[in-house]
Amino acid sequence: MKVEVQTDRRSVASLACDAVVVGLWSDETFTESTRQIDEASHGIIRGLLERKEATGKLFELTTLHSVPGVRAPLVVLVGMGDAARCDASTVYRAAAAAARCLSTKARGSVAFFLAEGPTIDQESAVAAGAIVGSAGQDLYRKEKKRHAPGKILVAGDQVKSVARGKAIGEAMNLARHLVNEPPHAMYPESFALAAQRVAEESGIACEVWDGARLERERCGSLLAVSQGSERPPRLVILEYRGGKNEPATALVGKGVTFDSGGLSLKPTDSMTTMKCDMAGAATVLAVMQAAAKLKLPINLIGLVGLVENMTGGAAMKLGDVLTARSGKTIEVLNTDAEGRLVLADVLNVALDHKPARIVDLATLTGACVVALGTETAGAFSNDQSWCDAVLAAARRAGEPLWQLPMFPEYSEHIRSEIADIKNTGDGRWGGAITAAKFLEEFVGETPWVHLDIAGPAFYDKPRPWADGGASGCMVRTLVELLEQPF
Ligand code: BES
Ligand code: MN
Ligand code: ZN
Repeated sequence: MKVEVQTDRRSVASLACDAVVVGLWSDETFTESTRQIDEASHGIIRGLLERKEATGKLFELTTLHSVPGVRAPLVVLVGMGDAARCDASTVYRAAAAAARCLSTKARGSVAFFLAEGPTIDQESAVAAGAIVGSAGQDLYRKEKKRHAPGKILVAGDQVKSVARGKAIGEAMNLARHLVNEPPHAMYPESFALAAQRVAEESGIACEVWDGARLERERCGSLLAVSQGSERPPRLVILEYRGGKNEPATALVGKGVTFDSGGLSLKPTDSMTTMKCDMAGAATVLAVMQAAAKLKLPINLIGLVGLVENMTGGAAMKLGDVLTARSGKTIEVLNTDAEGRLVLADVLNVALDHKPARIVDLATLTGACVVALGTETAGAFSNDQSWCDAVLAAARRAGEPLWQLPMFPEYSEHIRSEIADIKNTGDGRWGGAITAAKFLEEFVGETPWVHLDIAGPAFYDKPRPWADGGASGCMVRTLVELLEQPF
């Protein structure tokens, strides 16, 4: 998709394109573009407001055809709520909501006049939102619901910020696509191939470990999870070097391409969306792609552990004791707590690269969704200043993220009688935290933040600004994070 900056912000009424999108505040003041449309049409928008046909409440959509004085045949008004509370996240969502509305049929060019604020992040938020809102989850439908426009124009001043938004939006769509692919198509080997392709296109180094290599590396914890599946496991290591000789930041992702629960089998209703259990891995790949596209002046290592959690005859059993790559022994008391088993070894491989800091992303626990709901990701850390940097980046990006505690007492819950640790807590209380405590056992002294994205990674129903299915969450946060010096 072509994405271009439209530097003449005053051209909203005269621009030759198939549709223009403008924002509407809820407090009766107009944005500059809305004012121009109103003026050109001798008060069409004022009339709508007077008759309460439009109110400007958040993400309300009003489509106007053949507005007098406006060259584009279609004008979309999108509610932006209270002007004083409008930030990059509002603008992102408004652009995505309008793009969703316009993408119901194929169009040539669509112009978004939404970034009225002076800030660079608003312009990139518009570009990213427009790109994400134009792509759906209907990969296997004959008649598609979404048709991306041929060209997106973003009114703004900065070619660079629009290019940034394009890189972010495309990375989000990459992550969403990988997650939305059904498990018959997206399994460890096919994900690894996709990673190799992305790496090649992006000029990133990519190494893939197969089963034999994982055996040689003694990745006993990851291998135990994949044992129940016909599909062989993979571990992918991506390396982007945009910095000098400073140590890298490591991004680690859970890549369970399907989570049946293993012998601790999930019931149908919990299993239907478990293709989403590789969202952490997809996010890592997407962020690596964006970092390379944006030529960020940093060094990055991305590591993803790819397995399918199944119930084959060779599946790990309850009571099994595994030896992780680090040498720690793990008693398996629930085969559905497989993500931590995979990450234990991937985090240990990450340490070989001596990263200065780590972020891992995982659809790790239902308990995190119980604690925080479906919109908010959980953050867990062994280093408050690194965690603060991640939380601040999420705030700038407008993605809900909330830190949960890591008090030492929680570690008692994962002590085992037969092995060093066990893979579930005692009982289900604090399950998101005991899972994070388990991961902490494998990061040594390295500053580390764990993001549990089980809630926001996959929408079971659409939002005004997003289709159902994979959300692409945390891509914007991580790009924000990596753009700022540590
Ligand atoms: N992949 C699931 C967690 C999950 C739940 C992701 C809902 C997305 C939506 C994970 O592997 C899992 O099954 N966790 C168990 C852990 C328990 C057995 C200790 C859970 O949350 O029930
Ligand atoms: Mn599971
Ligand atoms: Zn899982």
